[in-house]
Amino acid sequence: MVEFALPKNSKLQKGKEFSAPKNAARVKRFEVYRWNPDTGENPRIDIFHIDLDSCGPMILDAVLKIKNEIDATLAFRRSCREGVCGSCAMNVNGKNTLVCTKAIEEYEGTIKIFPLPHMDVIKDLVADMTNFYAQYASIKPWIETQTAAPDRERLQSKEERKKLDGLYECVLCACCSTSCPSYWWNSDKYLGPAVLLQAARWLEDSRDENAGERLDELEDPYKLYRCHTIMSCTDTCPKGLNPAKAIADIKKLMAVRQQG
Ligand code: SF4
Ligand code: SF4
Ligand code: FES
Repeated sequence: MVEFALPKNSKLQKGKEFSAPKNAARVKRFEVYRWNPDTGENPRIDIFHIDLDSCGPMILDAVLKIKNEIDATLAFRRSCREGVCGSCAMNVNGKNTLVCTKAIEEYEGTIKIFPLPHMDVIKDLVADMTNFYAQYASIKPWIETQTAAPDRERLQSKEERKKLDGLYECVLCACCSTSCPSYWWNSDKYLGPAVLLQAARWLEDSRDENAGERLDELEDPYKLYRCHTIMSCTDTCPKGLNPAKAIADIKKLMAVRQQG
């Protein structure tokens, strides 16, 4: 039987352990992935025992507490704390999520925090999003028109606007793409669920006049058709969106076009 092993320099080491204050009554154990490219050391898992009575309710609050009070070298992204900027995506106990919208009390026992999976790590919990954003730019996430600019804004009916529901809410956190096995193995060529949901968003927009060209761009064995409907993306999306359906809708548009 084939055995897979991590390269030596990727093997996780035991890291440091930080105790909670002696008088803490409600203590939660957090294991946090750490890696600093400047030290040349292997990644490690640090253990933090946090006093929940002096910590906010969300996972992000615990991460902030670690940075502010225990280890200022911990690197991670966050901005809005409202689930709208999409920057605090991490893997918590094996599932990708926005840590500002996840309550600590949702988890029993130890909470394990890792960076988004199958992405290069820049430092600690910061994943390298370069390829993800380049793929996003490649689908031209803006309105493209052929007709002359009108004197006023391009209007939509209520029905046309409604078609964007379930698409416009995406905060580009990449939780879905980094939970997709097809994306893990082919992220250089397959666009992944987040970017394809965005592609669907612009295909559905009644004001856009370049649907044909957009579909031409996606007509590729990898960019679109590497989705095998495994559904991890939809299961993971912290905003409750359905990227798998958006991908299926693009495939339908392709099929209709081929028949026509
Ligand atoms: S449905 Fe498609 S995009 Fe979603 S996880 Fe599965 S293969 Fe990936
Ligand atoms: S579809 Fe959901 S999981 Fe994927 S990027 Fe958008 S908000 Fe994040
Ligand atoms: S901090 Fe903005 S989505 Fe979590």
